[in-house]
Amino acid sequence: MNAYRQEIGRQEVLVGLDVGTSKVLAVSARVSIEGNAEIIGYGEARYSSGGLDKGVVVNVDDTVQAIKKAISNMEMMAPCGDISAVYTGLTGEHVRGDASRGIVAVKGGEVTDEDIRLVLDPAQVVPNRAVGKRILHITPKGYTVDGQSNIREPRGMLASRLEADVHVFSCEENIARNLERCINNAGYEVLGTSLSQIAVGNAVLADEEKEQGVCLVDIGAGTMDIAVFIGGAVRHTAMIPLGGCEATNDIALGLQISRLHAERIKTEYGSALAQMVAADETLPPIQMAGKSVNIHRQLLAQIIEARYRELFMLIEDVLTKSGYQERVPMGMVLTGGAACMNGLKDLAEESFHRHVRILGSVNLTGLERVLHDPAFTFATGILMQGIETCMRNRQGQPTRMLHRLQGWISKYF
Ligand SMILES: Nc1ncnc2c1ncn2[C@@H]1O[C@H](COP(=O)(O)OP(=O)(O)OP(=O)(O)O)[C@@H](O)[C@H]1O
Ligand SMILES: [Mg+2]
Repeated sequence: MNAYRQEIGRQEVLVGLDVGTSKVLAVSARVSIEGNAEIIGYGEARYSSGGLDKGVVVNVDDTVQAIKKAISNMEMMAPCGDISAVYTGLTGEHVRGDASRGIVAVKGGEVTDEDIRLVLDPAQVVPNRAVGKRILHITPKGYTVDGQSNIREPRGMLASRLEADVHVFSCEENIARNLERCINNAGYEVLGTSLSQIAVGNAVLADEEKEQGVCLVDIGAGTMDIAVFIGGAVRHTAMIPLGGCEATNDIALGLQISRLHAERIKTEYGSALAQMVAADETLPPIQMAGKSVNIHRQLLAQIIEARYRELFMLIEDVLTKSGYQERVPMGMVLTGGAACMNGLKDLAEESFHRHVRILGSVNLTGLERVLHDPAFTFATGILMQGIETCMRNRQGQPTRMLHRLQGWISKYF
């Protein structure tokens, strides 16, 4: 048995850890020996000063403390044995996606799983890896078998030569290691580090959406992670270093109140559609420095709306520059904590001129609190990657969970 397995009877508990800009989230899932997964607990912890900025660790001690607290909160909620290791994920401007190609000779005359593993092997696909870079994911976009291109599933085909067109996602090794060291310093081993967009896509999107074309955006506190999925695979990723924090800052500046007050009134009374708010509605007065501050809810909504319109323009710009703006018939899927703003779906549909949905973790089962909240989708997506890795490590027949994940597995590995 691998050292990292926390087995309870015939079940194993895995943990996904999202070290985000505004907080650390830990989510646990019980995975049965047959491969069925169920979310059983979560824990959350805020930084005392600010552990991460735009996906990069800027305060190690603060980050370590928040990781410890989030995992301890999670353990208090649902006992899960002695957790010693977790899966995690990252984002950041340092992540890049590049097209590449792998080529292998098919030895046995028929393409096998092993040939596919070899043609997607990092050493094969990126023979001259730049110093200081880490390969996070290799996503096949299509195969060529003996010169015949556009093959989606080459397994079982007679062939002597197999080629794969792939997208290679890489990041700065040191930035990834700094995050992993914080987790190690908190007392946990890191079993795997996923790329945000791919993890979130697994938690949130249906296979059909990925197949037909969809743009997924995780709007967090300090980053917006964008991914375009077409033909079942991720085609383009980008990160914009802005998010819900910007709306909070605008409110604090515009209304001359503290960021703490701004954050609270934003989430409690905010709206992304100023026209839907009655002109005479006021919030309960805010007490600041011995003074009572009265705020009109419509003014609050105007500030929020202006900021979200700007964020949406930046997203549209990324989509246009990617060249895929006409190839996402399934529209936009928004997730992340800042996608929870009241009225956001309507504002987004008006801004993008596309069908928009705001989603939580639709591809998992278990605690409703976790599944419904879009702020959890990175942590649950990380967990799904962990479950997949764990299942591959087990010797055995495909299970029900594996059947559900099979499309995804074949696309990413
Ligand atoms: N109900 C709500 N309405 C509006 N905004 C909300 C709501 N709940 C949370 N937010 C905003 O969501 C953001 C936090 O989202 P999330 O937890 O996804 O961020 P994060 O993962 O910490 O950050 P990042 O992904 O940028 O690293 C904050 O800006 C917060 O103000
Ligand atoms: Mg996040």
